[in-house]
Amino acid sequence: MAIQFDEKRNMFKLDTKCTTYLIGISKEGYVGHIYYGKRLKEFGGGYLLRTEEFPFTPEANKREKAAFLDVYPTEYPTGGLGDYRESCLDIRNSEGYMGSEIFYKEYLVEDGKPHLPGLPASFGEKDEVQTLQIICEDPILRMRVTLMYSVFEEEDIITRSVKIENQGEKALHLEKVYSACLDMDNQEFEMIDLCGSWARERYIQREKLRYGRQRVSSSRGESSHQEHPFMALVTPDTTQETGEVYAMHFVYSGNFTAQAERTQFDYVRMVLGICAEGFRWNLKAGESFQAPEVVLTYSAEGLGKMTRSFHDFYRKHLIRSPYLYKKRPILINNWEATYFDFNTEKLLAIAKGAKEQGIEMLVMDDGWFGKRNFDDSSLGDWTVNEEKLKGGLPHLVKQVRDLGMEFGIWFEPEMISPDSDLYRVHPDWAIQIPGREPGQIRAQYVLDLSRQEVRDYAYECVAKILRSAPISYVKWDMNRQLTDLGSIALLADAQGELSHRYMLGVYEMQERLVTEFPDLLLENCSGGGARFDPGMLYYSPQIWCSDDTDAIERLRIQEGTALIYPLSAMGAHVSDCPNHIVGRRTPFETRANVALAGTFGYELDITRISEEEKKQIPGQTALYHKYRELIQKGDYYRIASWTDKKSLDCWEVAAKDASHALVTCVQVLAQPNIHSRKIKLKGLDKEKTYRLEGSGEVYSGEELMYCGFLIKGLEGDFASRLYHFVREDVQEEEGPQ
Ligand code: DGJ
Repeated sequence: MAIQFDEKRNMFKLDTKCTTYLIGISKEGYVGHIYYGKRLKEFGGGYLLRTEEFPFTPEANKREKAAFLDVYPTEYPTGGLGDYRESCLDIRNSEGYMGSEIFYKEYLVEDGKPHLPGLPASFGEKDEVQTLQIICEDPILRMRVTLMYSVFEEEDIITRSVKIENQGEKALHLEKVYSACLDMDNQEFEMIDLCGSWARERYIQREKLRYGRQRVSSSRGESSHQEHPFMALVTPDTTQETGEVYAMHFVYSGNFTAQAERTQFDYVRMVLGICAEGFRWNLKAGESFQAPEVVLTYSAEGLGKMTRSFHDFYRKHLIRSPYLYKKRPILINNWEATYFDFNTEKLLAIAKGAKEQGIEMLVMDDGWFGKRNFDDSSLGDWTVNEEKLKGGLPHLVKQVRDLGMEFGIWFEPEMISPDSDLYRVHPDWAIQIPGREPGQIRAQYVLDLSRQEVRDYAYECVAKILRSAPISYVKWDMNRQLTDLGSIALLADAQGELSHRYMLGVYEMQERLVTEFPDLLLENCSGGGARFDPGMLYYSPQIWCSDDTDAIERLRIQEGTALIYPLSAMGAHVSDCPNHIVGRRTPFETRANVALAGTFGYELDITRISEEEKKQIPGQTALYHKYRELIQKGDYYRIASWTDKKSLDCWEVAAKDASHALVTCVQVLAQPNIHSRKIKLKGLDKEKTYRLEGSGEVYSGEELMYCGFLIKGLEGDFASRLYHFVREDVQEEEGPQ
């Protein structure tokens, strides 16, 4: 049983394979957090609520209620009555008064996990996950708050979310609804988060936790390039293998806040949820509000264990696509090859050249519709530009398929260009504040997807095209943030709902898409990686990682992304040199070795690259076929990071049965007068021996893991190499060495 309740002690015990989470209830009914950490055999730890210490619970010490609320380690803090730390729930009643207090009422335990209506969320079979609902009430507000905990034993994951129900007769105004809170004693914590910018997404950042509040947040209407809905608190000794890690990740693609607060008593409160800035939800009598889900994990074995828990969890319990473990066609995308300047002839030339080298799908990117010859028009006018695509889309798709390739297409369905027929007819469909000219970003506005008729139009545009020809893949892009937050369809007191309603609208559209086209391979994208988040993974098994396709820039971006996301989710391509973003020249081989850590594809004009490079492509695509399954399903280990010493970047993927492992090494900058470098492998069988393919060398598993392996012979800046270790009892496979 993953979830147990001890009636005598009023305590819940939630167990995963390696962790235990304990919840206690005070005499008054305050739901308290006792413990999260290594797995415990027995119940215990109730003393950690400290209710026997001053200031005591209000029952014993009514005159110091605020002092109690301000220290009690709670599961879900509500605002306005004396807990001055960050609250998770701020509510105003219909008279405008703010304040709420929730008390335990009852609980429910069920096998499996209920859906979260309208939201992406993890799932599992009845024998894989158990769910606890702790039902609380605020008797004054006549509000019910259900705290939901789903325990995934095998992956060491607990997910949390919250439902608020208005059981009274008058509206309640939700001003903040976070999804999860973790109150702990400080352990000299350091905070890890992922930060960046366009073309520099998800860099790992680590800082000592100071007194006060440290937050990462987005109010851009998307999870964003800049900050990421993820936070980990780690003990100072944390490395890949050691240290304690408490991590939270949000299954949501819109505005968020993740915050760690170190308090006066050296306690720490970590929270995550929808960003409260600009949020206001009008909860009418009888209505409920479901907050999105937070994924929680604890590791006593450093960051590596955390990473693998997230990877396993997302692969098994979040990504629904039939492509999760299927071979995805190796694609060539024409964006960096042509930008807007293409026609049928050019695309077919690229397709033909690509097919000859073993590439399997042509993806036609931005610029095929309306009058779009640059980025300043036609979003919303999703009709094929027949001046570019003579004979229309079905004709092009047929020609590509006749070559033996699949066909994919780009859309940006959430947008509207001021210069579009759609805008000329429906200017009110753009998100805007009446009387104020909305600001453009990339010469475009955002469609008001909180409105059903707007969603129906945008969805039908995409679906019509997909129904018109056999299209295997869609890249769903989103190239601007939300501003001017106003919707003419919402009443004055509901304008604060727009950003969340927008996200619900996007989710509804993507749900329709994957339902109507179940075999479609969907790749989400947002000006590179501005909406790379678990919410999007629920709909698409892969997400475009970054517009920065330079192999060296990608090392850092992919290291940060792989900290929490499986490699099978990371959109990665081999692109042209000098690189279009940073102008760097890197070996063609290294570009492929780095892209192999993701979905793998090409984004260059194959009709123009050198013969020497072209000749390498069949070998590279063969590598993809050879290692695809290992990369999609294996255990990922970060071995070395070039951000440490600006030299070696190295990662490994080991098969779960330890039958083989692939190690990728990139020498970023060559150094003079240096010896071979030692790396220690992981995830092998220490009792078995492994041959290094293509070398005749044989090593024992324990030797490779404990003594190490020497990396030598990498010559020059940006040189790279793959090392494939195969357990000796496994048959030699055909394929490149
Ligand atoms: C941003 C994407 O990240 C690019 O790959 C490309 O699709 C452009 N948008 C097209 O406008």
